[in-house]
Formats: sequence, C-alpha cells, structure tokens
Amino acid sequence: MAKVNISGYGDDLTVNGVRIGDLSPAEHEAIEMEKGGQNYSPLEDVVVSHVMDSSTLICRKPDPDGVKAYIEEELLDGLCCYSAVNQGQLNATIVDAVIAHLQDEKIPTVPRSIRHKYMAAFLLAATAITEMDKVVPKVAGVEAPELMAKLSRRWGYRVKGIPANEAIIVVAADNFHGRSLFAVSASTDPMAKDDFGPFLPGIEVVPFNDIEALKALFKEKGDRIASYIVEPIQGEAGVILPTADYHQQVADLCKQHNVLFCMDEVQTGFARTGANFAHQLYGVKPDLMACGKAAGGGIMPVSFVAGRKDVINVLTPGSEGSTFGGFPLASVTATFAIKAMVDMNLAQNAEKMGQRMIQHFNDIKADYPDKIKEGRGAGLLTAFEMYDEPGLDGHKVSLKLLESGIYAKETHKTTVRLAPALTVTEAGVDHIGESIRKVIHSL
Ligand SMILES: Cc1ncc(COP(=O)(O)O)c(C=O)c1O
Repeated sequence: MAKVNISGYGDDLTVNGVRIGDLSPAEHEAIEMEKGGQNYSPLEDVVVSHVMDSSTLICRKPDPDGVKAYIEEELLDGLCCYSAVNQGQLNATIVDAVIAHLQDEKIPTVPRSIRHKYMAAFLLAATAITEMDKVVPKVAGVEAPELMAKLSRRWGYRVKGIPANEAIIVVAADNFHGRSLFAVSASTDPMAKDDFGPFLPGIEVVPFNDIEALKALFKEKGDRIASYIVEPIQGEAGVILPTADYHQQVADLCKQHNVLFCMDEVQTGFARTGANFAHQLYGVKPDLMACGKAAGGGIMPVSFVAGRKDVINVLTPGSEGSTFGGFPLASVTATFAIKAMVDMNLAQNAEKMGQRMIQHFNDIKADYPDKIKEGRGAGLLTAFEMYDEPGLDGHKVSLKLLESGIYAKETHKTTVRLAPALTVTEAGVDHIGESIRKVIHSL
C-alpha cells in the first residue's frame, strides 16, 4: 500500500518527513529532477518562496557562507508569469473576492450540467470588457486557441460551406499558441514539434506581417480557408510587432474572402500592451479572440474565447466543454480580475510605464550601440535585443539580472523580455532599466 503523510502549512508543510522550509535550492532542484518531468530549465539556484508586494517576490538563494540551507532576498518580478499577473501579485480586489466567496458566500463547485449564479456575472463582465457578443470559458491558455480552431472548422463547414474535412486554418510563422497537439501542429519551432507527429492536417503557415503572402494564399485556397489565427504581437517569438496597418489589411482580406479573423490575445490581452486588448491598438476587431493568463488575475487558471454570436452559436451541447471552465470559483476570480484591471486603469499605467521602459532601452542602446540592436514593445510587453555576437547571451543576462534582484528571462538567444506587473511604479521601471544598464556594461 502506498504511504503518504502530509502535515503543516507553509515552511512547516511536511511530506513524508521532508519539511519544505528545510530544503536548499539544490535540494529543490534535485527533487524536481528526480520526481518531475524535465520539460523546463528554470533559472539555477533560486527558489521563489512568497510575495512581498504586487511586484516583489521573496526568493531563496544558496547561502554564500554555506552555513544555512539558504538566504532570502527580494526579487523584482520583471516577467509576472508571462503576463498572467498583470493585476499584480495577490491583487487585493481579487484575493478579497475569492476569500469572501469561499468563506462567507460558501461558493460550491458544480459542473456545467447545472447552472450556478456566478456564471451570469462572469458572462456579463467578460462580454462587456471584450465588447464581444458571447464568451465561452475554458481553463488553460492553450485551450482558448484550441477552441478557436474547433469553432473555425465547424463554422467553415456549417456556415461557409467548405466541403467536409477540407477546412484550412492559416497561422503565422513563429507563432506560439501553447502546447496541445493543435498548437504544436501549428508551430514552426522544431523544439516544440520534434517527435510529436503526426500533426493535425489542414494547417497552412504564412510569414507574420507579410500581407502579400496571405493574399496569395487566400487567392489560391480562400474557398477552403476557415480562419486566420494570429497573435496581435508575437510574444514568445520575442515581442515582434507588425507594421501599423498589417492587422487592418488582414481584417479587410478576411472579410473579402469570408475567412474568420481570430486573434490569440492570451499574452497580449488584459491591458498588457497599453490597451485592454492589443487589437484595439490597431483599430480592428477580430471575429474571435482567445484570452487566458491575466483573465484569472494570477490567482487561478482562467481562459476563454470571446466572439461573434453567429460563430460561437455553432457550438451545440456535447460538442465542447470543460469541467472547470467557468466553474463558480473561476467565474468569480475572472469577474474580479476584470474589475481590478478596470478600477486600477491598468491599460493607462501599462502605456505610461512601457514608454519609460523603452526610453531606458533606447538610452542604453545609445551608450552601447555595438551591443544593443533594438528595444521594442507595446505598453509593458517589452524586450531588448542584443547583437548575435559572442558574449552577448540572453541567458547570461538573465542570470546577471538575477544577481541585481530582477527576474527576467530570455525568449531567444539574444532577446530578453521585460513584462512586469502593470501596477509597477516609475521607481520599479527605473530599477529594471538601471540594472539592465549595469549588466550590459559588464558584458
Ligand atoms: C499567445 C499565447 N497563446 C497561448 C498560450 C498558452 O497558454 P498556457 O501556457 O496557459 O496554456 C500562450 C502562453 O504563453 C501564449 O503566449
């Protein structure tokens, strides 16, 4: 018989005799290597313990004197869980609502086969903030683009009249839509794909920001194309922004060919780019939009697809569903994640602080023109790119930033993304900028 003994909370949490508060960073790593999948390579020698304020993590590092199991230091969170914590760590509006609903309101867990009263609140809030007709809740970010792909195919057959099993979904090269089989089938990254085939058929790839390529494909196969799924700004690719009129041209082309214009805003949504949703920066409105990450305010996973009534209406009972998609706690969390974003004017702060961050990048580039190629971004989705030269290495930069108390991570060999909480202050942005300057100077 398997035996497991669990007791205590926090540092006293003890599992089969191992007290979590006693573990050194090396022991954490050893347990993860032995007991977990090796699908991540987290920064070495640092373990996050808890939160100090909306942008500051307390982390554990090896004791330089080798006496204690670890020392604790502050870490400014320059990544905020890849934009899942836009509202700031442990945002009080969201946390208070969750606690009140669990403790006082006695929120239940029920499946979608019985109505619960918080679903109405979530749907009213989510359709209002997205300015879309309808919303379908899911859980992980990846499930939202996955559902856009299913909706595209069904709409393609039932409304557009594409012959059975011939629907095509177009995606952009260097996209990131998550890790499901649809997402990796759509991916152009060999690391994400190797030995996971056979891949889903019916996917065509065009270069991002190349309207002529899309035009040529639509001209050739437009009658079988159901949708174009694209990120407004490619986050994982290294914060790649399209030219100003690209999305408008895409929207026009989609209309012309009766193709659904679907945007994956899992990373760019929820005020990250200086607008509530990044498509608003480009003056377009997609037919479907995928949201995730900050939709759950960093408290729990929440994702959804928002979109046109006539498209979402192709779903029928039994064709789609999820046990925890929109369950009561998720509905409450997402409703208050929206409230926090609106009440705190996060889009405005993202725009202002983003400009300050880019100014830091530009100043550093001016002083080190042989090292920094470019600083770019929209709102607080920002990155700086170094030249691909020996010694200019994104991972090394991340490690050195860690020594200065900043958590950031390279997206590609030469690009480092900075996407702090949207509650970050001028002093926080300046601390990040000055730390980057010191690190670049030292390279
Ligand atoms: C644009 C985009 N879509 C989908 C995803 C997948 O989200 P998750 O990792 O929560 O499944 C991500 C994650 O980074 C993303 O950036």
